Amino acid sequence: MAKSKSLFFCKNCGYQSSQWLGKCPSCGEWSSFVEEVIDRGEGQKGKSHLAKTIQNSPKRLDEISLVQIPRIGTGYSEFDNVLGGGIVAGSITLLGGEPGIGKSTLLLQMVLKIKDKRILYISGEESEAQLKMRAERLFPGHHPDNLFILTETSTQEIFEHIKNVQPELLVIDSIQTLQSSLIDSAAGSISQIKECAAEFQHYAKTSAVPVFLIGHITKDGSLAGPKILEHIVDTVLQFEGDQHYGYRIIRCIKNRFGSTSELGIFEMQANGLREVLNPSEILLSGRDEEFSGSAISAILEGNRTMMIEIQALVSSAVYGTPQRSATGYDIRRLNMLLAVLEKRCRFKLGAKDVFVNIAGGINVDDPAINLAIVAAILSSAADIAIDPKTCFAGEMGLNGEIRPVTHIDQRIAEADKLGFTRMFLSKYNLKGLNTKDLKIKLIPISKVEEIYKHLFE
Ligand code: TYD
Ligand code: MG
Repeated sequence: MAKSKSLFFCKNCGYQSSQWLGKCPSCGEWSSFVEEVIDRGEGQKGKSHLAKTIQNSPKRLDEISLVQIPRIGTGYSEFDNVLGGGIVAGSITLLGGEPGIGKSTLLLQMVLKIKDKRILYISGEESEAQLKMRAERLFPGHHPDNLFILTETSTQEIFEHIKNVQPELLVIDSIQTLQSSLIDSAAGSISQIKECAAEFQHYAKTSAVPVFLIGHITKDGSLAGPKILEHIVDTVLQFEGDQHYGYRIIRCIKNRFGSTSELGIFEMQANGLREVLNPSEILLSGRDEEFSGSAISAILEGNRTMMIEIQALVSSAVYGTPQRSATGYDIRRLNMLLAVLEKRCRFKLGAKDVFVNIAGGINVDDPAINLAIVAAILSSAADIAIDPKTCFAGEMGLNGEIRPVTHIDQRIAEADKLGFTRMFLSKYNLKGLNTKDLKIKLIPISKVEEIYKHLFE
């Protein structure tokens, strides 16, 4: 009897080895290797059905005709933008995200909206009845003729159905449920995921049908998938958000057909995802009363500017060690800001608890938010509210100097458009700025102490 063959894979990056290793030589992760049976030694299963059905031959560049294939619109401009202007024929896109974030909802909504393209939506996770219920919830009574639903997990079976249906767009929910009979390991294992993705990649490239793959990912990376597939697919989208808020953000991590700086914002509602075309409006809503400890920053996410509210609470520490906590912002950066305030400006925050919260459950990396965080902390410490028509955009250095930020014109324009009357920014940002047509008043500052004088003295 033939011997069964197994290989070891790194759960983190997919590195393959013939023996177990304690540390992955590729990504440096410890104890990440798992064993997977690749071949039980039951003999050749025969070549992939694709090899048999698809005729292909090497071509010279001049033999390949240049055709401008129009992109397929998804029905949602937020989604189109992230893809770089719509779906490209023959592209393979991976949509990753935590379970329950709304990946199936987004793609089902998309296929329900696309008209005059034959679509095959394959689910290995939900039953036909569940999908029907979801579709009814999203678009009641909408039964397009061009959409076919299939619940199947075997890739060989799926390709048989594809031959019959001849789809022009394919959605697979999810790559972790698929199983190819060419590999013996279980569905969801690294070797299966790689093999199944490779089969669909081959299909997309040879048939010019765009393919969407859904892949689950968890915070600790315990589910295999997206990381391993990143180099196989053309586009990697990450769907993220906070379970407790309705906002969902699609970010582009890799895109062979567009820029990765685009970002789409949606809101999860009872009847599906709604596009949020003007994020500032919802992020700022509910600000009728003036409270101390609140400041607004003009931040940049991808290519978009939005106004976002920062709340800070400074109170006397009840216990010996003061607490510092930040939601939506890096706690180490908060500690750094507090240390600068303490050392350079002599604000006594050492015996205070400091809590910082970014509204809307959004995580902000843009350093331009620093100035607003400092202003919110100072406002709470002084217990004086900042005028709600004031906003901030600036980075703070270790000496308390206010540094310029990128795309200041875009930030100013957004603040101006939303009716803000004052904006604090670094004095270095004012150089070369055309401020003639602006209603908003720009207040340049160079040191953090000046903020305090302007606002509270
Ligand atoms: P789902 O698309 O199943 O997530 P994923 O495929 O990423 O695992 O959606 C998950 C959540 O979205 C689910 O908990 C319920 C919620 N939801 C709504 O709030 N409104 C809706 O219209 C739908 C379809 C789902
Ligand atoms: Mg799902």
